[in-house]
Amino acid sequence: MSKYIVEGGHRLKGEVKIQGAKNSALPILAAALLISGNTVLHNCPDLSDVRAAIKILNFLGCRCKQIGNDVYIDSESVTCNAVPNELMREMRSSVVFLGAILSRCSMATVTAPGGCELGPRPIDLHLKAIKELGFSVNENGGNIVCKRERYPKDTEVSLDFPSVGATENIILAACISKGRVVLHNAAKEPEISDLANFINKAGGRVYGAGTDRVEIIGVNKLYSVEHSVIPDRIVAATYMSAAAVTGGEVLLYDIDNNHIRAVVGAFNEMGCTIKTDKKSLFLSADKPLYRIKTVRSTVYPGFPTDAGPLLVASLIKARGTSVFIENIFENRFNYIGELRRLGADIKVYNRVAVVEGVNSLHSAELSCTDLRGGAAAVVAALASDGVSTIDKICHIERGYESLETTLKELSAIIKKE
Ligand code: UD1
Repeated sequence: MSKYIVEGGHRLKGEVKIQGAKNSALPILAAALLISGNTVLHNCPDLSDVRAAIKILNFLGCRCKQIGNDVYIDSESVTCNAVPNELMREMRSSVVFLGAILSRCSMATVTAPGGCELGPRPIDLHLKAIKELGFSVNENGGNIVCKRERYPKDTEVSLDFPSVGATENIILAACISKGRVVLHNAAKEPEISDLANFINKAGGRVYGAGTDRVEIIGVNKLYSVEHSVIPDRIVAATYMSAAAVTGGEVLLYDIDNNHIRAVVGAFNEMGCTIKTDKKSLFLSADKPLYRIKTVRSTVYPGFPTDAGPLLVASLIKARGTSVFIENIFENRFNYIGELRRLGADIKVYNRVAVVEGVNSLHSAELSCTDLRGGAAAVVAALASDGVSTIDKICHIERGYESLETTLKELSAIIKKE
């Protein structure tokens, strides 16, 4: 198994082009199943999760190839409507294929996604909405079998919580259909708007994405389309965090500053100098970092749960006591044990993490507990004295295109072994 070896204590400095967003690319790849023709997807990050989505598309009868950051998908003929367990399990967010297969084939068999490193990942909201859209849902052992029973003539669906995945599944399931669906309390994350833009470019009719009311008018089919994935706001937060905690400076380009306002607010409060331009952001940590008052993760446009570990990692040497409250996932604090190994002073009370900044950190042997927790461990190791190792980096590779290469370009001393 691969690991990173990080020599900490070096100031990061340089420029980073921000990769395409994993959380946009995955539902858009599922949406490619709806196209009666060809999809060309640009700025698609080259990640293990993306490769897993491509495997599912190929299994369902599409012909896909990935060349660098471009993915070409011919989904003229879809020959299968069931995703086997081993493919479902390769990627946690494979459940978004359920809505896409139902739209295209009117019937789908998938397996229930298991628990994951962030705790149980239920799909009750997805299934409840799918039923309201006129599909039967039968859970049989680990299989979930859904079948169209009627078209949703004029249906209102309301989510109890604005789940990102459920919103995507509902949009996908209602896309090729004969009725009108209004979704209330929809997730407003930028990745939902990107999915809707992709569908609309292909001839779909999705209105209001990015607000809590999304209206989907079913169409007969979707046509060939070319699209570019939006920049990854969490990857941007990662390099901001790495530059901040090492007292460095970084210019991020190909970024959408509208998507990271809450994150920018937190780094401003820590005393970083941040300048933004249309598609770039410059962050400099020329003074010691200060504590932040309480930050809570919440739904967009609030502070993103995925950036929580990165924020905590940049606070471990800040002056004073900071508080971070995790409101979205139950088990998101597993990575904190790893930061403590470096000498970080962090106490956890249920969903609350209290970070007492320390003057210095030492090296340690760390493990990635999950994708963003793993990235936080790397960031913390960059701020520590001595040589640390970080194993189980397969978690990191689910979401970052060669993190170590980019960090090296910023003058970090890191190698993959
Ligand atoms: C997506 C993102 C993930 C991000 C999360 C929250 C992708 C591939 N992943 O995950 O990176 O951290 O949004 O911004 O886009 N829930 C239920 N029942 C459901 C669905 C969700 O109880 O049917 C709960 C979850 O357990 C969690 C919360 O709702 O506590 C948020 O989940 P959701 O917004 O659905 O996240 P994902 O779509 O899984």
